[in-house]
Amino acid sequence: MSSQDFAIAIMAAGKGTRLKSKRPKVLHEVGGKPLLAHVIRSATAVVPPQNIYVIIGHEAERVRAAVAQTGVNFVVQAEQRGTGHAIQTARTALAQFANFLVLSGDAPLIRPETIRRIRDFHTAHGATMTILTAKPSDPTGYGRVLREGATDRVAAIVEQKSLRPEQSDVGEINSGFYAFHSEPLFANIDRLSTDNPHGEYYLTDMAALLVAKGHKVLAIRAHDPDEVLGANTIAELVSLDANLRMRKARELMSQGVTIFRPETCVIDDEVRIGVDTSIEPFVQLLGNTSLGENCRIRSYSVITNSRIGNDVNIRPGSIVDESSIATGAIIGPYSHIRPGSEIGEGAHVGNFVETKKAHLGRGSKANHLTYLGDVEIGAGVNVGAGTITCNYDGVNKHKTVIEDGVFVGSDSTLVAPLKIGQGAYIGAASCITQDVPADSLAIARGVQVVKDGWAKRRREERGKK
Ligand code: UD1
Ligand code: CA
Repeated sequence: MSSQDFAIAIMAAGKGTRLKSKRPKVLHEVGGKPLLAHVIRSATAVVPPQNIYVIIGHEAERVRAAVAQTGVNFVVQAEQRGTGHAIQTARTALAQFANFLVLSGDAPLIRPETIRRIRDFHTAHGATMTILTAKPSDPTGYGRVLREGATDRVAAIVEQKSLRPEQSDVGEINSGFYAFHSEPLFANIDRLSTDNPHGEYYLTDMAALLVAKGHKVLAIRAHDPDEVLGANTIAELVSLDANLRMRKARELMSQGVTIFRPETCVIDDEVRIGVDTSIEPFVQLLGNTSLGENCRIRSYSVITNSRIGNDVNIRPGSIVDESSIATGAIIGPYSHIRPGSEIGEGAHVGNFVETKKAHLGRGSKANHLTYLGDVEIGAGVNVGAGTITCNYDGVNKHKTVIEDGVFVGSDSTLVAPLKIGQGAYIGAASCITQDVPADSLAIARGVQVVKDGWAKRRREERGKK
């Protein structure tokens, strides 16, 4: 069967009442991105985006905007009257395909392998409805799947609230993922009723309805019960997040990355890390971040949307945001590398140093208590403790250029726009407001006055009183 014959519907119209949140449920984030984005990512690994229909309703435009760039289609379910109603709403779109799969926008751990497995099982057995099931350690809250004896045929799905006492020990749950043969499904879907505790049209009721009509309804068990976990409450969201983070950490470790105490680290899905790099406890690596080989990222550092080269040492408590750090550089402890910074090969940025749109050339150093904003710094420059680039005049930002080999004495203030020529020296505590020629010395501070014996005389006068 070619993928063209198969569509995927993703149900994402619900409000998520149990989250008690103003944000639509499917836009709550786990593993650094919305629940729905995870499901779409797995779906697009199996069928092209034009075969995917996301059913939206509650805050439809917000949900659409969040995932529109994936190229999927949307169907609006203006009133959310249940999962059965969601599929009724998408009938015109889905009926174009011989078969289709249904995924839940609030169950983000589903993998492409499993989607393919349901599809292949469904078509190989010529089923009308195939239900992915699981046996989690705690089935509470899920619909339960009642099989016909020990076969793979299903008799019915019973929602938690409708379970009869003798059914309460059924441990096999409905994952909310299904495959359907379109023609018989849509011939019968209007028979659904709202005769249940929620007064909704349950897609799950299609199992018993189709069986009553002599159709084949089958169950296929998930290999990993965690894969079908949904998020109806904040506690469940947080636990899914932990689950995804651990999956990512394991994947990285299998590729030669060392992650100490991985349960304390937060590593987003898109992060790439080279071999022999070590991540210490309580590190966060977020967004589109890549780390080279043989780096060490020490505790409490947070790196977002940045590129880190090989052999980089990021010491504890450093923040790196939308910047790049070249091979062999040393950052921290407690450095704040703000957007647009480019730290060159072997450069050092030390404690309590803040950079913003700062380019630091090869081997240059700014080791203590410094602000470097809108500055182009060449190679081999030494920026003394307490140096400040005064880049802002209250209206505009101005640029400072510091050429190769410059030595900036401690406690200098460099008032931009400003250029300090190659090899120049800036005397400590200078306030530099004019360009400094190459190879010169600039000193701009009060001249020191020494009054011989002054202190001694003062003490003696006090003693007389
Ligand atoms: C559903 C199943 C349950 C299963 C569980 C697995 C039903 C009746 N029950 O319960 O058997 O064990 O999933 O996680 O289907 N949605 C719409 N439109 C609607 C209603 C819901 O698009 O009108 C969407 C929701 O946004 C959500 C998904 O469908 O993404 C599932 O709905 P939800 O209310 O979470 O169903 P559960 O109670 O979890
Ligand atoms: Ca759910």
